[in-house]
Amino acid sequence: MKKNHTIEKNAKFVNNYLKTKLKGNPKILYDAAGHLIVNGGKRLRPYMVIKSCQILGGKISNAMPAASAIEMVHNFTLVHDDIMDNDEMRHGVPTVHNKFGMPVAILAGDVLFSKAFQIISNSKLSPNATNQLISRLAKACVDVCEGQLFDIKMAESRKIPSQSEYIEMIGKKTAALFDVSCAMGAICATNNLRDIRNLSSFGRNLGIAFQITDDLIGVMGDSKITKKPVGNDLREGKKSLPILMAIKAAKDKNKKIILKAFGNKKASKDDLKKAVEVIRAQGIEDTVRNQAEKYAELAEKSLTKYQGSAKKELVELLDFVVKRSR
Ligand code: IPE
Ligand code: IPE
Ligand code: MG
Ligand code: MG
Repeated sequence: MKKNHTIEKNAKFVNNYLKTKLKGNPKILYDAAGHLIVNGGKRLRPYMVIKSCQILGGKISNAMPAASAIEMVHNFTLVHDDIMDNDEMRHGVPTVHNKFGMPVAILAGDVLFSKAFQIISNSKLSPNATNQLISRLAKACVDVCEGQLFDIKMAESRKIPSQSEYIEMIGKKTAALFDVSCAMGAICATNNLRDIRNLSSFGRNLGIAFQITDDLIGVMGDSKITKKPVGNDLREGKKSLPILMAIKAAKDKNKKIILKAFGNKKASKDDLKKAVEVIRAQGIEDTVRNQAEKYAELAEKSLTKYQGSAKKELVELLDFVVKRSR
């Protein structure tokens, strides 16, 4: 498995910061809010906040509130996403609603969402920068809600979406948070709009590459490594790029096997397993990885004018994201 040590180093930093913020009464609410965080996660979004601040000459301490806030917002989306997707496992442990029950899970998500804004509004940046962080993060959260509903509606519909509809959906449900991570990092360092725009565009394209890869390992991956079950997207009828491509590529009997499991909440484990095997045999992996690569290249272009170690780390992150298996 590909590892990236600077991501892990920054993660420790962020974890310590988060630990101090996720405490309170009733204890169970905070245990639920911190559940996925203490059991894993890559901390990619805070890493992007920090590196986007550093690439523009900003101090890491200025970026810490926004870095922690984005991880909280991300975890809020995960907790609610697992409810919507009927998922029972994440990070190798029961999902929050599965372990703590639905009411606590909904509230844990709400606490994470609210605390994120509280942390940013208490940051020591200028009032103008603080304002920018709050309004951009709020806008990104609205985008996530819209994107998540697109995802659900597409899954419910029998219609096969076009590739551009799929990209639009993932642009909102996933890339919006990557985009705002980089934009917030930039704002912690500068008020130059061109720099903020460059970093925001880097984050957006990286986010799209990330979700395409995530959808690929969601069906092709090894659940021991991804720590979430393989085949759930299929059962839920998710219109992910690899699934769409596999349906298009499969012929006769194979197509039937995929369609029998696709969007069928009553599909047996065996039906799902067979369908996943057929999808894997369609030879679409390289095409999907190439699509992710295309967005990674676009992302890299946004950083052309920058130099230094933070730039190098952001470019390496692109490689990590498109080659990852977890
Ligand atoms: C998972 O994101 C949700 C998606 C946008 C696909 P991550 O893979 O970044 O989540 P962590 O690392 O488990 O926190
Ligand atoms: C990713 O959701 C986007 C959000 C969580 C907002 P998915 O449903 O595609 O991701 P996983 O597979 O549950 O991590
Ligand atoms: Mg989902
Ligand atoms: Mg999900």
